[in-house]
Amino acid sequence: HQNMIQLKNNFTWEENGMIFKKNHQIIRKKIFSFLSEIEQQNNEINKIHTILIIIAMEDEASPTISYLGLKQLQGNKKFPFKIYGGEKNGKRIVLMTSGKDSTHGVDNVGPQVASSMATIGIHEFDPNVVVNMGTAGGFKASGAKIGSVYVGTKAQFHDRRIPIPKFDKYGSGDYNTTTPTSINGMFKSATISTGSSLDITDAEKERLSKQSQQMAVVKEMEAAAIAQVCQWNSTPFVVIKAITDLIDSSAKTEEEFLKNLKIASKSLQ
Ligand code: ADE
Repeated sequence: HQNMIQLKNNFTWEENGMIFKKNHQIIRKKIFSFLSEIEQQNNEINKIHTILIIIAMEDEASPTISYLGLKQLQGNKKFPFKIYGGEKNGKRIVLMTSGKDSTHGVDNVGPQVASSMATIGIHEFDPNVVVNMGTAGGFKASGAKIGSVYVGTKAQFHDRRIPIPKFDKYGSGDYNTTTPTSINGMFKSATISTGSSLDITDAEKERLSKQSQQMAVVKEMEAAAIAQVCQWNSTPFVVIKAITDLIDSSAKTEEEFLKNLKIASKSLQ
C-alpha cells in the first residue's frame, strides 16, 4: 500500500487527485475496523455506541458525510457548528464541522474552534470515541510526502509557549492519542503538532524538532486542542491526517494547501 499513498516526483494534479481519493476511501473504510480494537483496549467501556467525528472544513468533510449517509441535524443556534448524524454497523455516528465565520464567510478553523466543538460534542452526544480527520502540512525533511496519511501517536502544541517551570510542559501538551494497530500498520504514524497558524515561524520549527521524543512530521490546527478536551473526559481520541502541503519545501504553503484541498474535494465528489 505504501506505493499507493506516495506520489511520483513529477506527478500531474490529476494523479494527485486520484491518490487523495484512494486515501480517503481507505480512511473511511478503516474507521469501522478499529472500533472493536478500541472496545477491547478500554475495559471500562462496554461497547462503543457513539462515535464523534470532528472535521474542521466542510470541503474536507463532505465525502465522509455522503459515504456514511449522514443527515444534517438541527444544531444549537448559539454556535456556528454543523452537526450531521446517522447510524452505521449499529453505532451512532455524529459528525461535526466548524461552520462559517459570520463576518468573513470562511470556514472556522483553528484550535480554539476545535476545543469548542469537542466540548460541545462530548457534552451533547457522550461519545465513547472521538475521531479527528482532515488535512495537514508535513515536513519533507522527516519523510512526509503530499498525499501521505498519518495516524497520530501523540498530539502536541508547537505555539503554546509558557516559559515557566511546569507550565512549559503544560504548554506543549504532549497528549496521548489512541493509535489502533489495525490502522497503524496501514498508514504512517507520527506525533501531530497543532498551532493556530497555517504557516510556521523558524522558532516554532526549531521547537518542534526538539520538544517531542518522536519528531513531529505533521502540523495542523486542531488535534492537540481536541486531545486536551478528550483527556478531561477520558475519551479515546484517534487522529488521522492527510498531507496537503510540505512546510519545508520551496512552494508556498498556502498555495499548495489550497490547490490540493480543491483537488482532494473535487476528486471525492
Ligand atoms: N492543514 C493543511 N495544511 C496545513 C498546514 N500547513 N498547517 C496547518 N494546517 C494545515
